[in-house]
Amino acid sequence: MTSKRYSLIVATSENMAIGRGNRMPWHISADLKYFKKLTKNGTVIMGRHTWESLGCKPLPLRENIIVSRSLTVEKAAFAAVGSDVVASGSVGGSVGGGAAVGAAVEDVAGSVVRGSVAAVGAAAGDVAVCVGGSVGGGAAVGVVAGSVVRGSVDAVGAAAGDVAVCVGGSVGGGAAVGAAAGAAATVTMVAPSIEEALKMASRDEIFVIGGGEIYRQTMPGAYRLYITSVKTIIDDADTYFPKIDSSKWRIIWESEVFHDTKTNFDFQFIQYLTNEN
Ligand SMILES: NC(=O)c1ccc[n+]([C@@H]2O[C@H](COP(=O)([O-])OP(=O)(O)OC[C@H]3O[C@@H](n4cnc5c(N)ncnc54)[C@H](OP(=O)(O)O)[C@@H]3O)[C@@H](O)[C@H]2O)c1
Repeated sequence: MTSKRYSLIVATSENMAIGRGNRMPWHISADLKYFKKLTKNGTVIMGRHTWESLGCKPLPLRENIIVSRSLTVEKAAFAAVGSDVVASGSVGGSVGGGAAVGAAVEDVAGSVVRGSVAAVGAAAGDVAVCVGGSVGGGAAVGVVAGSVVRGSVDAVGAAAGDVAVCVGGSVGGGAAVGAAAGAAATVTMVAPSIEEALKMASRDEIFVIGGGEIYRQTMPGAYRLYITSVKTIIDDADTYFPKIDSSKWRIIWESEVFHDTKTNFDFQFIQYLTNEN
Protein backbone atom coordinates (compact mmCIF):
# COMPACT_ATOMS: atom_id res chain seq x y z
CA MET A 1 0.00 0.00 0.00
CA THR A 2 2.73 2.47 1.04
CA SER A 3 6.17 2.28 2.54
CA LYS A 4 5.14 4.58 5.40
CA ARG A 5 4.82 2.85 8.73
CA TYR A 6 1.50 3.21 10.49
CA SER A 7 -0.24 1.78 13.55
CA LEU A 8 -3.81 0.80 14.27
CA ILE A 9 -5.24 1.92 17.60
CA VAL A 10 -8.50 0.45 18.86
CA ALA A 11 -10.45 -0.67 21.91
CA THR A 12 -12.11 -4.06 21.44
CA SER A 13 -14.21 -6.37 23.55
CA GLU A 14 -13.28 -10.05 23.93
CA ASN A 15 -15.50 -10.84 20.93
CA MET A 16 -13.81 -8.03 18.95
CA ALA A 17 -16.77 -5.66 19.11
CA ILE A 18 -15.82 -2.01 18.62
CA GLY A 19 -19.04 -0.15 17.83
CA ARG A 20 -22.79 -0.02 18.19
CA GLY A 21 -25.05 2.58 16.56
CA ASN A 22 -21.98 4.55 15.40
CA ARG A 23 -20.70 4.89 18.94
CA MET A 24 -18.22 2.99 21.00
CA PRO A 25 -19.96 0.47 23.28
CA TRP A 26 -18.30 1.95 26.39
CA HIS A 27 -16.75 5.12 27.75
CA ILE A 28 -13.59 4.37 29.67
CA SER A 29 -11.84 7.61 30.49
CA ALA A 30 -8.43 6.01 31.16
CA ASP A 31 -8.56 4.54 27.67
CA LEU A 32 -9.37 7.92 26.13
CA LYS A 33 -6.43 9.43 28.01
CA TYR A 34 -4.14 6.67 26.73
CA PHE A 35 -5.41 7.26 23.18
CA LYS A 36 -4.83 11.00 23.49
CA LYS A 37 -1.33 10.62 24.88
CA LEU A 38 -0.29 8.29 22.08
CA THR A 39 -1.85 10.13 19.17
CA LYS A 40 -1.18 13.75 20.22
CA ASN A 41 0.83 15.64 17.58
CA GLY A 42 0.55 12.72 15.19
CA THR A 43 -1.60 11.96 12.14
CA VAL A 44 -4.93 10.23 12.72
CA ILE A 45 -6.65 8.56 9.77
CA MET A 46 -10.32 7.69 10.12
CA GLY A 47 -13.33 6.63 8.07
CA ARG A 48 -16.23 8.97 7.47
CA HIS A 49 -18.50 7.21 9.99
CA THR A 50 -15.89 7.57 12.73
CA TRP A 51 -15.49 11.27 11.85
CA GLU A 52 -19.25 11.61 12.30
CA SER A 53 -19.13 9.68 15.56
CA LEU A 54 -16.68 12.33 16.82
CA GLY A 55 -19.31 15.00 16.11
CA CYS A 56 -17.46 15.98 12.89
CA LYS A 57 -14.83 17.73 14.97
CA PRO A 58 -11.11 17.23 14.43
CA LEU A 59 -9.11 15.80 17.28
CA PRO A 60 -7.12 18.76 18.60
CA LEU A 61 -3.39 19.07 17.96
CA ARG A 62 -3.44 16.27 15.45
CA GLU A 63 -3.43 16.04 11.68
CA ASN A 64 -6.89 14.56 11.02
CA ILE A 65 -7.42 12.78 7.71
CA ILE A 66 -10.94 11.59 6.91
CA VAL A 67 -11.18 8.87 4.29
CA SER A 68 -14.32 9.28 2.22
CA ARG A 69 -15.58 9.06 -1.31
CA SER A 70 -18.53 11.31 -0.51
CA LEU A 71 -17.38 14.03 1.89
CA THR A 72 -16.98 17.44 0.25
CA VAL A 73 -14.78 20.26 1.39
CA GLU A 74 -17.84 22.29 2.35
CA LYS A 75 -19.12 19.61 4.66
CA ALA A 76 -15.68 19.08 6.14
CA ALA A 77 -15.13 22.81 6.57
CA PHE A 78 -18.52 23.43 8.11
CA ALA A 79 -18.06 20.49 10.36
CA ALA A 80 -14.54 21.30 11.40
CA VAL A 81 -14.93 25.01 12.03
CA GLY A 82 -18.64 25.37 12.66
CA SER A 83 -20.27 28.65 11.80
CA ASP A 84 -17.01 30.57 11.39
CA VAL A 85 -16.91 29.69 7.71
CA VAL A 86 -19.68 30.40 5.25
CA ALA A 87 -19.12 28.31 2.16
CA SER A 88 -21.12 28.63 -1.01
CA GLY A 89 -21.35 26.81 -4.28
CA SER A 90 -20.00 23.41 -4.95
CA VAL A 91 -16.32 22.92 -4.33
CA GLY A 92 -14.22 20.49 -6.24
CA GLY A 93 -10.54 19.96 -6.73
CA SER A 94 -10.40 22.51 -9.52
CA VAL A 95 -9.40 26.16 -9.76
CA GLY A 96 -13.07 27.15 -9.67
CA GLY A 97 -13.43 25.24 -6.49
CA GLY A 98 -10.59 27.16 -4.96
CA ALA A 99 -12.33 30.42 -5.75
CA ALA A 100 -15.44 29.21 -4.02
CA VAL A 101 -13.41 28.45 -0.96
CA GLY A 102 -11.81 31.85 -1.15
CA ALA A 103 -15.26 33.36 -0.96
CA ALA A 104 -15.95 31.28 2.07
CA VAL A 105 -12.86 32.47 3.85
CA GLU A 106 -13.45 36.12 3.00
CA ASP A 107 -15.97 36.44 5.80
CA VAL A 108 -13.48 35.17 8.28
CA ALA A 109 -10.23 36.69 7.20
CA GLY A 110 -11.36 39.67 5.17
CA SER A 111 -8.44 39.15 2.85
CA VAL A 112 -8.79 36.96 -0.18
CA VAL A 113 -6.58 36.85 -3.24
CA ARG A 114 -7.68 34.98 -6.33
CA GLY A 115 -5.65 34.12 -9.34
CA SER A 116 -4.96 31.22 -11.60
CA VAL A 117 -4.45 29.32 -8.44
CA ALA A 118 -6.49 30.27 -5.42
CA ALA A 119 -4.46 31.90 -2.69
CA VAL A 120 -5.92 32.65 0.67
CA GLY A 121 -4.24 34.38 3.52
CA ALA A 122 -5.64 34.67 6.99
CA ALA A 123 -4.20 36.16 10.13
CA ALA A 124 -3.15 33.86 12.91
CA GLY A 125 -6.14 32.67 14.85
CA ASP A 126 -8.38 32.72 11.79
CA VAL A 127 -9.52 29.76 9.84
CA ALA A 128 -8.17 28.79 6.45
CA VAL A 129 -9.85 26.45 4.05
CA CYS A 130 -8.20 25.25 0.90
CA VAL A 131 -9.00 22.89 -1.88
CA GLY A 132 -6.12 21.02 -3.29
CA GLY A 133 -6.66 18.87 -6.31
CA SER A 134 -4.39 18.35 -9.20
CA VAL A 135 -1.23 20.43 -9.08
CA GLY A 136 -2.60 23.16 -11.33
CA GLY A 137 -5.76 23.61 -9.34
CA GLY A 138 -4.16 23.58 -5.97
CA ALA A 139 -4.88 26.26 -3.46
CA ALA A 140 -2.07 27.93 -1.61
CA VAL A 141 -2.97 29.04 1.85
CA GLY A 142 -0.78 30.75 4.33
CA VAL A 143 -1.69 31.37 7.92
CA VAL A 144 1.65 32.06 9.47
CA ALA A 145 1.15 35.01 11.78
CA GLY A 146 -0.60 37.05 9.12
CA SER A 147 1.78 36.51 6.25
CA VAL A 148 0.52 34.95 3.07
CA VAL A 149 2.43 32.06 1.66
CA ARG A 150 2.00 31.32 -2.01
CA GLY A 151 3.42 28.62 -4.16
CA SER A 152 2.91 26.86 -7.42
CA VAL A 153 2.20 23.68 -5.57
CA ASP A 154 -0.21 23.35 -2.70
CA ALA A 155 1.19 24.76 0.48
CA VAL A 156 -0.58 25.41 3.70
CA GLY A 157 1.03 26.91 6.74
CA ALA A 158 -0.80 27.31 9.98
CA ALA A 159 0.49 28.86 13.14
CA ALA A 160 0.05 26.90 16.33
CA GLY A 161 -3.54 26.80 17.40
CA ASP A 162 -4.94 27.56 13.95
CA VAL A 163 -7.17 25.23 12.08
CA ALA A 164 -6.50 24.30 8.49
CA VAL A 165 -8.99 22.35 6.45
CA CYS A 166 -7.80 20.96 3.18
CA VAL A 167 -9.17 18.51 0.69
CA GLY A 168 -6.13 17.29 -1.13
CA GLY A 169 -6.14 14.96 -4.06
CA SER A 170 -2.47 15.34 -4.74
CA VAL A 171 0.47 14.09 -2.77
CA GLY A 172 2.10 17.49 -2.60
CA GLY A 173 -0.97 19.12 -1.13
CA GLY A 174 -1.31 16.93 1.87
CA ALA A 175 2.37 16.66 2.58
CA ALA A 176 2.82 20.40 2.39
CA VAL A 177 -0.10 21.01 4.71
CA GLY A 178 1.29 18.90 7.48
CA ALA A 179 4.87 19.94 7.04
CA ALA A 180 4.05 23.62 7.13
CA ALA A 181 1.57 23.36 9.93
CA GLY A 182 3.99 21.60 12.21
CA ALA A 183 3.15 19.30 15.04
CA ALA A 184 1.35 21.90 17.11
CA ALA A 185 -1.59 22.64 14.82
CA THR A 186 -4.93 20.98 14.29
CA VAL A 187 -5.32 20.10 10.63
CA THR A 188 -8.27 18.46 8.90
CA MET A 189 -8.02 16.90 5.46
CA VAL A 190 -10.21 14.62 3.40
CA ALA A 191 -8.68 11.82 1.33
CA PRO A 192 -10.54 9.97 -1.41
CA SER A 193 -8.80 6.68 -0.60
CA ILE A 194 -6.74 5.06 2.14
CA GLU A 195 -3.69 5.06 -0.11
CA GLU A 196 -4.06 8.81 -0.60
CA ALA A 197 -4.54 9.37 3.14
CA LEU A 198 -1.27 7.62 3.85
CA LYS A 199 0.49 9.71 1.22
CA MET A 200 -0.95 12.90 2.71
CA ALA A 201 0.05 11.99 6.26
CA SER A 202 3.00 14.14 7.26
CA ARG A 203 3.52 13.71 10.98
CA ASP A 204 6.11 11.40 12.47
CA GLU A 205 3.57 8.94 13.81
CA ILE A 206 0.57 7.79 11.81
CA PHE A 207 -2.39 6.14 13.53
CA VAL A 208 -5.40 4.54 11.90
CA ILE A 209 -8.17 5.19 14.43
CA GLY A 210 -11.11 3.34 12.86
CA GLY A 211 -13.68 2.33 12.27
CA GLY A 212 -14.40 -1.22 11.22
CA GLU A 213 -14.21 -0.71 7.46
CA ILE A 214 -10.96 1.20 7.65
CA TYR A 215 -9.37 -1.23 10.13
CA ARG A 216 -10.21 -4.16 7.84
CA GLN A 217 -8.47 -2.55 4.90
CA THR A 218 -5.41 -1.25 6.76
CA MET A 219 -4.62 -4.12 9.12
CA PRO A 220 -2.72 -6.19 6.51
CA GLY A 221 -0.18 -3.38 5.96
CA ALA A 222 0.06 -2.14 9.54
CA TYR A 223 3.26 -2.17 11.56
CA ARG A 224 1.89 -2.00 15.09
CA LEU A 225 -1.42 -2.54 16.89
CA TYR A 226 -2.33 -0.61 20.02
CA ILE A 227 -5.17 -2.66 21.46
CA THR A 228 -7.19 -1.81 24.51
CA SER A 229 -8.64 -5.16 25.44
CA VAL A 230 -11.92 -4.61 27.26
CA LYS A 231 -12.71 -7.74 29.23
CA THR A 232 -16.35 -8.12 28.31
CA ILE A 233 -18.56 -9.59 25.59
CA ILE A 234 -20.77 -7.21 23.63
CA ASP A 235 -23.62 -9.18 22.07
CA ASP A 236 -25.40 -6.41 20.20
CA ALA A 237 -22.49 -4.71 18.46
CA ASP A 238 -22.67 -3.85 14.76
CA THR A 239 -18.98 -3.16 14.11
CA TYR A 240 -16.03 -5.45 14.76
CA PHE A 241 -12.24 -5.42 14.62
CA PRO A 242 -10.64 -8.20 12.55
CA LYS A 243 -9.28 -11.27 14.33
CA ILE A 244 -5.63 -10.83 15.36
CA ASP A 245 -3.73 -13.66 13.71
CA SER A 246 -1.05 -14.85 16.16
CA SER A 247 1.14 -16.11 13.33
CA LYS A 248 1.36 -12.58 11.98
CA TRP A 249 1.34 -10.53 15.21
CA ARG A 250 3.40 -10.85 18.38
CA ILE A 251 2.77 -9.12 21.68
CA ILE A 252 5.62 -6.77 22.59
CA TRP A 253 4.09 -5.15 25.67
CA GLU A 254 1.06 -5.52 27.88
CA SER A 255 -0.02 -3.50 30.87
CA GLU A 256 -1.50 -4.80 34.07
CA VAL A 257 -5.26 -5.28 34.07
CA PHE A 258 -7.08 -2.17 35.26
CA HIS A 259 -10.64 -1.75 36.46
CA ASP A 260 -13.01 0.98 35.33
CA THR A 261 -15.43 1.76 38.10
CA LYS A 262 -17.96 3.54 35.87
CA THR A 263 -18.51 0.69 33.41
CA ASN A 264 -17.38 -2.01 35.83
CA PHE A 265 -15.23 -3.45 33.02
CA ASP A 266 -11.65 -4.66 33.40
CA PHE A 267 -9.32 -3.58 30.59
CA GLN A 268 -5.72 -3.93 29.53
CA PHE A 269 -3.42 -2.16 27.07
CA ILE A 270 -1.62 -4.53 24.68
CA GLN A 271 0.82 -3.67 21.92
CA TYR A 272 1.54 -5.99 18.99
CA LEU A 273 4.21 -5.76 16.34
CA THR A 274 3.91 -7.41 12.95
CA ASN A 275 6.19 -10.34 12.17
CA GLU A 276 6.24 -9.36 8.52
CA ASN A 277 8.34 -6.20 8.29
N1 LIG B 1 -13.64 0.88 19.63
C1 LIG B 1 -12.86 1.68 18.97
O1 LIG B 1 -11.68 1.84 19.29
C2 LIG B 1 -13.40 2.41 17.78
C3 LIG B 1 -12.58 3.28 17.04
C4 LIG B 1 -13.13 3.94 15.94
C5 LIG B 1 -14.44 3.72 15.58
N2 LIG B 1 -15.21 2.87 16.31
C6 LIG B 1 -16.60 2.60 15.95
O2 LIG B 1 -16.63 2.06 14.62
C7 LIG B 1 -17.89 2.40 14.05
C8 LIG B 1 -17.66 3.05 12.69
O3 LIG B 1 -17.05 2.11 11.83
P1 LIG B 1 -17.61 1.81 10.36
O4 LIG B 1 -16.99 0.54 9.85
O5 LIG B 1 -19.10 1.89 10.38
O6 LIG B 1 -17.15 3.09 9.51
P2 LIG B 1 -15.75 3.80 9.23
O7 LIG B 1 -14.70 2.77 8.90
O8 LIG B 1 -15.46 4.77 10.30
O9 LIG B 1 -16.13 4.67 7.94
C9 LIG B 1 -16.64 4.04 6.79
C10 LIG B 1 -16.64 5.06 5.67
O10 LIG B 1 -15.29 5.39 5.34
C11 LIG B 1 -15.19 5.61 3.93
N3 LIG B 1 -14.32 4.59 3.36
C12 LIG B 1 -14.09 3.31 3.77
N4 LIG B 1 -13.18 2.71 2.98
C13 LIG B 1 -12.83 3.63 2.04
C14 LIG B 1 -11.92 3.61 0.95
N5 LIG B 1 -11.17 2.52 0.65
N6 LIG B 1 -11.81 4.71 0.17
C15 LIG B 1 -12.55 5.83 0.46
N7 LIG B 1 -13.43 5.91 1.49
C16 LIG B 1 -13.56 4.81 2.27
C17 LIG B 1 -16.59 5.53 3.38
O11 LIG B 1 -17.11 6.84 3.48
P3 LIG B 1 -18.12 7.45 2.36
O12 LIG B 1 -19.38 6.65 2.52
O13 LIG B 1 -18.23 8.87 2.72
O14 LIG B 1 -17.44 7.22 1.03
C18 LIG B 1 -17.27 4.60 4.36
O15 LIG B 1 -18.66 4.75 4.37
C19 LIG B 1 -18.59 3.32 15.04
O16 LIG B 1 -19.47 2.56 15.85
C20 LIG B 1 -17.45 3.84 15.88
O17 LIG B 1 -17.86 4.25 17.19
C21 LIG B 1 -14.72 2.23 17.40
